[in-house]
Amino acid sequence: MCGIVGYIGAQQAPPILLEGLGRLEHRGYDSAGLVVRADGRGPRALRVAKRAGRVRDLAAALPKRFAGTAGIGHTRWATHGPANDVNAHPHTDADQRVAVVHNGIIDNAAALRERLAADGVELVSDTDTEVVAHLVGRSQADTLEGKVSEALSVIDGTWGLAVLHADFPDRIVVARNGSPLIVGVGDKEMYVASDLAALVRHTTTVAMLDDGELATVTAGGFTTLRHDLTATAKAATPVDVDPDSYEAGVHASYMHKEMLEQPAAAERMLRGRLDERFGATHLGGLNMEPREFRAIRRVKILGCGSAYYVGQMGAGLIEDLARVPADAEAASEFRYRNPIIEPDTLYVAVSQSGETIDTLLAVQEIRRKGGRVIGLVNVVGSAIARECDGGIYLHAGPEVAVASTKALTNMFLGFALLAVQLGRVRDLSIADGTRLVTAMAALPGLVGQVLAKEEQYAAVARTLAEAPSLFFIGRVRGFPVAREGAQKFKEISYRHAEAYQTSELKHGPLALIDPALPTVAVVPADDLTERNVGALHEIAARRGPLVVVTHEDVDLGGVEAVRLDVPRSEPELDPILMTLPLQLLAYHAALHLGHDIDKPRNLAKSVTVE
Ligand code: F6R
Repeated sequence: MCGIVGYIGAQQAPPILLEGLGRLEHRGYDSAGLVVRADGRGPRALRVAKRAGRVRDLAAALPKRFAGTAGIGHTRWATHGPANDVNAHPHTDADQRVAVVHNGIIDNAAALRERLAADGVELVSDTDTEVVAHLVGRSQADTLEGKVSEALSVIDGTWGLAVLHADFPDRIVVARNGSPLIVGVGDKEMYVASDLAALVRHTTTVAMLDDGELATVTAGGFTTLRHDLTATAKAATPVDVDPDSYEAGVHASYMHKEMLEQPAAAERMLRGRLDERFGATHLGGLNMEPREFRAIRRVKILGCGSAYYVGQMGAGLIEDLARVPADAEAASEFRYRNPIIEPDTLYVAVSQSGETIDTLLAVQEIRRKGGRVIGLVNVVGSAIARECDGGIYLHAGPEVAVASTKALTNMFLGFALLAVQLGRVRDLSIADGTRLVTAMAALPGLVGQVLAKEEQYAAVARTLAEAPSLFFIGRVRGFPVAREGAQKFKEISYRHAEAYQTSELKHGPLALIDPALPTVAVVPADDLTERNVGALHEIAARRGPLVVVTHEDVDLGGVEAVRLDVPRSEPELDPILMTLPLQLLAYHAALHLGHDIDKPRNLAKSVTVE
């Protein structure tokens, strides 16, 4: 979603800010802007440039002599008002002495706008953020921190924000409440950003603000404060991250790179966590004793989008292996139905970014009601990871493309590890535990085998891309695979793709089957194969084109279909191997259609607004 970068030091800020904004492009945005503090304290002390479109459009349009050694920049994903030049951030107060960039949503913006307008303030944009600039500008506090704190005290909502003030030229003040804000430490220069991706080329020594914190950032260092301006004395720490892992390298897109990284990412996920001797798993980060695992009577998984669909795969794994009732629910809906939180339920929040606000709020609702939540999270130290009672980090490495691939695979493995853990303190035998653990150890190799057939998928994808609409179908373990397949396809190819349970076709959707509507069917070799093949015949009889993701030994009964065979693992692990061809189908369809794969329209990488 929106992105923030800031710089203060001896170098010229604009190139650093533009480069940083470029590194946040993948998060999704529709306009971009910068403000720099020019030398001197005159009325033009702050210079703003902003416009709808890409960061490269902003760079091309920067006025001559747009210079300054302190500045903040922003990529905006429109929430209040359309994506145009005026609504782009930064926003300034009436005197142009305060400039603000903001991620998040101010819930009481309408009331604040009315109040400001009644006081004679002319609001020039449709945004919620502009009120912050006016509130800071009108504050009578003596310090910039005091002004920002006073402004925030009347604001309801979420923010990660950065403020530049012409009268306080030595500092940038930043604040966080529900939207990430990171301070990066350089050598006599400092950075701020909403995402590590914007910093890693400059520094990997960072401090992540907590909700309710402010920071004063000067060229020489930073201090952290609470909203009441008492110190929190946070220190910066090095993060273990390879800056090159944020580069696409030889790949045409991040999504392609990240799909091909899946074998290595899966290996990292499993490293040290498989116990072949006891057919068990080690999950130290859960901070739970075997006794506590045994006491769990239900598992409830919460995530959004693809994380929700992989959560459904996870629920299936847990029910199969641990025989504990489990289900997944869209985190975005959860807290709005006043959920019953049970003491013997294990809640699992699943999120790549660890910042998805819907998932974070679901976690907070559970914890507020006394429930125990563990996280399956990729980004270390992210809000969800910090909010949970324990967790399993995904170790997928940075995932830059909007479409989630390697993180999703590792989420599945996280559920497999958890299911074996829960199973082995119950009735899952050592033989079955060993069967699963051995299969998991072999999985990275099998993932590699599936990905190696990319050319085959590419050819099929080019045909599918021509269809305006597609079905993805599967049953039981195959249904979340179909849902995830449809999700990926629509996300990046912009083709209409709908997932159904194969068993539900006859109850309605079959009416749509005709030669123009291809169906991608998930048909593993299991006890439902025969029924699945029956459904394929029904589709073929209506001349519906078929692509079938299946196993080599499945007999499709002579039905006319394009087969995509994946290698056999243990049946419980089939869903993830069957998901991989669907990622590549979506990718190659989007490529064929000439879309910007890493920046699909209207979407954002971490959705930090409700
Ligand atoms: C799909 C996709 C989204 C995310 C969803 C949750 O490819 O990327 O559906 O899965 O927005 O994001 P995280 O996992 O960061 O909570």
